[in-house]
Amino acid sequence: MPLRSTTAAWKNLREHADQLSSNHISDLFSDDPTRFNGLTFRTGQLLLDLSKQRLNQTTLHNLSALAEEADLHDWIEALFTGQKVNCSENRAALHTALRSPKASSLTVNGQDIIAAVHNNLDHMRRIVDRIHQGQWRGFTGHSINTIVNIGVGGSDLGPLMTCRALAEHQSGAANPVQVHFVSSMDGSQLSELLSQLNPARTLFVLASKSFTTIDTLANAATAREWLRRSGHTTTDDMLTARHFIAVTANTAKASEWGIPPSNQLEFWDWTGGRYSMWSAIGLPIALKLGMDGFLSLLEGAHAMDEHFRHTPFLSNLPVLMALVDVWNINFLNIHAHAILPYDGRLGSLPAYLEQLEMESNGKSVTRGGETVDFHTCPILWGEVGTNAQHAFYQLLHQGTESVMCDFIVAARRYQTSGSEELQHQHRLNLANCFAQSRLLALGDSILDNADTQPAHKRYRGNQPCSTLILDELCPFSLGQLIALYEHKVFVQAVIWGINPFDQWGVELGKQVATSLLGALENPESTPGFDQSTNGLLAAVHAKQKGEA
Ligand code: F6P
Repeated sequence: MPLRSTTAAWKNLREHADQLSSNHISDLFSDDPTRFNGLTFRTGQLLLDLSKQRLNQTTLHNLSALAEEADLHDWIEALFTGQKVNCSENRAALHTALRSPKASSLTVNGQDIIAAVHNNLDHMRRIVDRIHQGQWRGFTGHSINTIVNIGVGGSDLGPLMTCRALAEHQSGAANPVQVHFVSSMDGSQLSELLSQLNPARTLFVLASKSFTTIDTLANAATAREWLRRSGHTTTDDMLTARHFIAVTANTAKASEWGIPPSNQLEFWDWTGGRYSMWSAIGLPIALKLGMDGFLSLLEGAHAMDEHFRHTPFLSNLPVLMALVDVWNINFLNIHAHAILPYDGRLGSLPAYLEQLEMESNGKSVTRGGETVDFHTCPILWGEVGTNAQHAFYQLLHQGTESVMCDFIVAARRYQTSGSEELQHQHRLNLANCFAQSRLLALGDSILDNADTQPAHKRYRGNQPCSTLILDELCPFSLGQLIALYEHKVFVQAVIWGINPFDQWGVELGKQVATSLLGALENPESTPGFDQSTNGLLAAVHAKQKGEA
């Protein structure tokens, strides 16, 4: 397959970029008084403003031609209908099926997977109800009141981000539970947390698609040992049955670890780790929000799926967002992307999107194995916008890097709180959100006297910004938002001709770590690594022996 960069639509976009290059975003606004209306798009509870991007309507049409040339329509159908879009692992990527309504159906490998998904949701509901009604009891007979999710990457970031984002939507269960997350391999989160918990009332959710991830297994082993040492005499079987649930696609490994089948929630190999929060991996979300809250999240994502599948490219939010990113990356040479939620509740969204985007599209070979001759996924990072203003916005405004920015904010907040102070804080937050995207895009051209200022006080602007406004942050709108980014990532991958559903680049490091562990555990062995690694090992051994 020829690389996308050799196609007619790509070349056309190159020429178009040359023609547009002398236009500052402020010129684009001056040229078109209807720009905001023409470049703002809506679906459900989301509004996407692309008017502060460095492009015009012709750009979007040319980008849409690129999408047509990449057979995007066919790829979208392939995704939704369960074709093996994950070519290197020879499997489908069916996260959309996880949020499909019960009445729909989809047969994959002879199985009606929608029925299987809903059976699984029913199993989840039974577990959630049992815990929420205080009927899940620990080894002393007391009800469970604390959940610790042990997982990493996709088995952590989605549920963590969602539980933090939607904490105000906590279920009104008779026996509400505290939900905690532990991921770090070094045990620092776990050791700090365990010192505050009551073993008799704590239930661990071991979340791991593979059930082989050493980070998760190491934390799980420490947690089990903590329970054993808690002074309550009980058998290992009872301890595991009462204090551990496994959420996994590898039930054999979970059983080997000792989790009884009744405590296992299964999902499928066609659910990618970073696309798995809609599966049983979402159990902590359901425990936090209640099952109905979790279903509302799924409904929001499903609404975005329908929009993505059935809306023409030029009014399709995920397609537009992807095409605009492709424009910025491949035609304007912008390789940094800041995610800026103006909402403290979305503080974990940047970390979630870092995995979603960079693990999916941080690739440099196509599906056919050719090395690309263009950039793919940019460096993506972010922070709550108002905090970032006091940290890295200096670089955004006056540094040497071009950065594209996503501003994300809810229109309504605190309206029923009865607190005028909090409502004022929300207005302050909105004012800052709009002020920053205005200044980043337009620069100090918005001032009358900018050119009288010394160089160090000038703002050149021209940083392309998108703004996403949610009506309000709730399970439905968050579901829409996350599915929007998932589909954006997929469209970009289609344009670039890469597979967004594998992650071979994280595998070799795991093997190398295993060989290093041997050297750390046997200080007397002669390590045969590179000079630097041998030296570092020797330095650590010496320090541990108190020699240096
Ligand atoms: O090492 C990367 C990765 O495989 C991610 O893709 C995944 O989300 C994470 O590890 C955790 O994997 P698992 O759910 O199998 O423990």
